[in-house]
Amino acid sequence: MSHKVGVIGGDGIGPEVIKEGLKVIEAAGVNLEIHDYDLGGERYLRDGVVLPDSVLDEWRALDVLYLGAVGTPDVPPGLIERGLLLKMRFDLDLYINLRPFVVAKSENNEGHDFMVIRENTEGAYAGEGGFLRKGTPHEVATQGSVNTRHGVERCIRYAFELANSREKKHLTLVHKTNVLTFAGDLWGRTFQAVAEEYPSVETSYNHVDAACIYFVENPQRYDVIVTDNLFGDILTDLGGAISGGIGLASSANLNPERTSPSMFEPVHGSAPDIVGTGKANPTAAILSGALMLDFLMEDEAARRIERACADPKTQNGSTSEIGDAIAAQV
Ligand code: NAI
Ligand code: MG
Repeated sequence: MSHKVGVIGGDGIGPEVIKEGLKVIEAAGVNLEIHDYDLGGERYLRDGVVLPDSVLDEWRALDVLYLGAVGTPDVPPGLIERGLLLKMRFDLDLYINLRPFVVAKSENNEGHDFMVIRENTEGAYAGEGGFLRKGTPHEVATQGSVNTRHGVERCIRYAFELANSREKKHLTLVHKTNVLTFAGDLWGRTFQAVAEEYPSVETSYNHVDAACIYFVENPQRYDVIVTDNLFGDILTDLGGAISGGIGLASSANLNPERTSPSMFEPVHGSAPDIVGTGKANPTAAILSGALMLDFLMEDEAARRIERACADPKTQNGSTSEIGDAIAAQV
């Protein structure tokens, strides 16, 4: 059986790393039916197209989407992020953003293995807010955070299911309930209510600022973390930094009910400073490909890819040399 995959290489190093990801998946013996989409900042600069509704409709017939990175220095900030990335997350209802952080135990590292589940469709990213008297000395800008019981509960429930399926069965809620007393209260109450359905999962709570300290000093304490959109965005960059850097950080944007295709992408951006130099590490994209295979029930191939990526012997050389080494091991 072949899986229908929409591929958006995007800008900068995006197409370079996606090429290696597809190479590795092919080496793992998984059949993909590839549908290529030319989207991103370069495409926008060429003909003004960001993400037409007709493309979104085509995607609904696919199984998954595999994205490199989008964004070019000459496009105004926010245009591609809102028009393409956030539009994908919102319109395809990709309400779970899942990011694994794994470091093997070694002589100079205790090692850790945890996942962050970030709510991906609400919070400060919902776009609530506006200007008043813009451009005057009395200008006002507000930026709200939208938290619905439905949106919060489905995210927390996913995190409990995930924690319940793991060995440690531990789930930490991260928020800022002491200051964000409305949104935090809703998150806290919902967390408590869902916890009652999962008596085998041990729970805890950290304020987001404290979590930043624990990430650096004692990440071994974590198994699964659930948090809101903005906290998750920031915390997962820190997670990347303590887990081998941006060249290794993978992510999944999931629609768990499979009513639309889920999207898999490395955490990093288009890295215009190293495009074309062969310096881009394709491992983040390749590991995102492994998450995609997991979602497509190709677990055995996914595990082989993860093992090859974790082998230090594959982590030397240029973009294509790393891709070749991982493909050869797989
Ligand atoms: P970036 O992630 O592209 O680069 C940050 C730094 O990390 C750079 O020094 C870069 O060379 C390095 N880097 C990134 N990926 C790497 C890899 N695979 N191997 C080795 N080094 C790597 O973030 P930046 O510079 O803030 O953004 C550049 C563009 O990418 C912007 O237009 C931004 O909007 C966009 N962006 C897109 C994202 C996406 O498509 N999901 C996510 C983040 C940024
Ligand atoms: Mg980020």
